Amino acid sequence: MNREVKIIDMANIVKRYYIGQPNELEILHGISLEIFEGEFVSIVGASGSGKSTLMNIIGLLDRPTEGSYYLNGQDTMETKDKDLSKIRNKKIGFVFQNFNLIPRISALGNVALPMMYGKVSSKERNERAMNLLKVVDMEDRASHNPNELSGGQKQRVAIARAMANDPDIILADEPTGALDTKTGRNVMDIFHRLNEERGKTIVLITHNTELAEETGRILTMTDGRIEVANGNT
Ligand SMILES: Nc1ncnc2c1ncn2[C@@H]1O[C@H](COP(=O)(O)OP(=O)(O)OP(=O)(O)O)[C@@H](O)[C@H]1O
Ligand SMILES: [Mg+2]
Repeated sequence: MNREVKIIDMANIVKRYYIGQPNELEILHGISLEIFEGEFVSIVGASGSGKSTLMNIIGLLDRPTEGSYYLNGQDTMETKDKDLSKIRNKKIGFVFQNFNLIPRISALGNVALPMMYGKVSSKERNERAMNLLKVVDMEDRASHNPNELSGGQKQRVAIARAMANDPDIILADEPTGALDTKTGRNVMDIFHRLNEERGKTIVLITHNTELAEETGRILTMTDGRIEVANGNT
């Protein structure tokens, strides 16, 4: 990890949707954002301000309409979709508000699944998945299906899954939104640990200002723009 390295480097990102011409809807109005390796950054802002839209672009799930985006020094605007998928799978782990676990497979299976893209034997996949379940203190529920887990347990499994390919970046969109305060606290502690002990760069979207204040830097989105605070954007 090198805190001098810009892992995410965006400039003038615009996102427009075309909802039947000539009405176009501009959602992001020119966002510039730099995130350094090992940072823990939160994004706050009102509903509809564009947080998830920005997160999807950061996570290579969606492309901006205009602007430049370098991920780890690579120009993503000049990268083919197929190659972006590979980069996404290797470098980025996602955690969502509603967990998005696959129903009829075990916790262990859910964590092992993203490893399928790599050249790893099934035995090694299962070993690695079990180790990740240990990291989130879920090894005793490895054989449970998602519907046999509590919300907090599901989210811990989802975090283990996000770690499956040892990504550099974890993107979490309202990961505590569906959890009570205590369970959300536990999930937040896991993020802190992954950041501090494993050097993961974490971008967290949250409506919870107390949780945001625990992170190294808060970005506030207002109507498709990032507000300038403390000289940072
Ligand atoms: N595919 C789409 N087509 C048209 N408009 C869209 C599309 N996706 C999102 N939007 C619009 O973009 C705006 C920003 O949405 P976004 O989901 O990024 O907000 P958000 O900040 O994540 O809100 P929340 O806190 O409620 O999750 C909203 O007005 C939404 O209606
Ligand atoms: Mg959202």
